[in-house]
Amino acid sequence: MKKWFETKKPILILAPMADYTDGPFGRICRKYSGKDFVIFKEMVSSEALVRGNEKTLKMSEFTVKERPLVIQIFGDKPGVMAKAAKLVEEKFKPDGIDINMGCPVPKIAQKMAAGVALMKNPKLASEIVKSVKKAVNLPVSVKTRLGWVSKDEILKFAVVLEKAGADLITLHGRTKAQGYSGIADRETIAKVKKILKIPVIANGDIVDVASAKKCLEITKADGIMIGRGALGKPWIFKEIAKLQNYKITRLQDVCKIVLEHAKFHEKYYSKGSLVTFRKHLAFYFKGVPNMKEFRVQLMQIKEYKELEKILKDYLKNKN
Ligand SMILES: Cc1cc2nc3c(=O)[nH]c(=O)nc-3n(C[C@H](O)[C@H](O)[C@H](O)COP(=O)(O)O)c2cc1C
Repeated sequence: MKKWFETKKPILILAPMADYTDGPFGRICRKYSGKDFVIFKEMVSSEALVRGNEKTLKMSEFTVKERPLVIQIFGDKPGVMAKAAKLVEEKFKPDGIDINMGCPVPKIAQKMAAGVALMKNPKLASEIVKSVKKAVNLPVSVKTRLGWVSKDEILKFAVVLEKAGADLITLHGRTKAQGYSGIADRETIAKVKKILKIPVIANGDIVDVASAKKCLEITKADGIMIGRGALGKPWIFKEIAKLQNYKITRLQDVCKIVLEHAKFHEKYYSKGSLVTFRKHLAFYFKGVPNMKEFRVQLMQIKEYKELEKILKDYLKNKN
């Protein structure tokens, strides 16, 4: 069977983003960006999966419409990671498993030796990849950064991952030390691409057709992954796949998409759950004129009906 990345190039991927790339967001992206991109769902804890934690199991569910879709797991114990991967394969049947080796949050990279902390421990990282590979019949990829402190660390680390059996790697062009500051480095990704035989995906600061083209030109990567650029812009993959200015700019159209997304959200979570949708609203309406008062209203919504009314009134008063 064809692997999820054996597709036309460049491969386009929605980045995993905790609290953002959930089922409803995946569905709205699929609806407005079409089939030509892969969804990486927000990371889930291998330990919580193995414990049978209900919230974590729900986070891993998805619908057929969301495919192709990869589930990302994090952890620092090869045995637990292998068990979690096997459980994910059997229960949810995603198109692939991704291992998080890039997350810098202290809960994961300091309290645990997981996420980007694995860059400091290539032996453990390699054991994790090998164990997960042995446990499943799905492609196993790794998402990581350029290093813990220095961006050259990836030149050795990427080889370790490939040798351990990783089928693909995604590189966020920053170190742990950089966090999210500065501009993502594309030259180092280009160096890694030259060294490895497996596909390499470039990630960081891709927000439109121009930055996508530029990134691909410099890195010669097999594909690109987009995170923050997709927030409030679920049509971005269509825009980039077509390499043209397919843009949704009319406020009426944005409002229609927002309401559809909100409906998915409320259906998936529960009635009154739009409190956790407010973060998406901030992205959808970034830079909109007369935003101040409108924003105050948006940041208080709880239910779909309220949102519908606020948007209706806003459009009416605007015209
Ligand atoms: C809110 C947020 C949550 C994130 N959660 C994850 C995650 O669960 N797993 C992961 O590998 N990376 C995570 N990331 C990192 C992104 O996947 C991506 O590597 C990073 O944002 C850089 O890409 P961008 O400039 O396209 O956003 C997260 C980033 C943000 C902003």
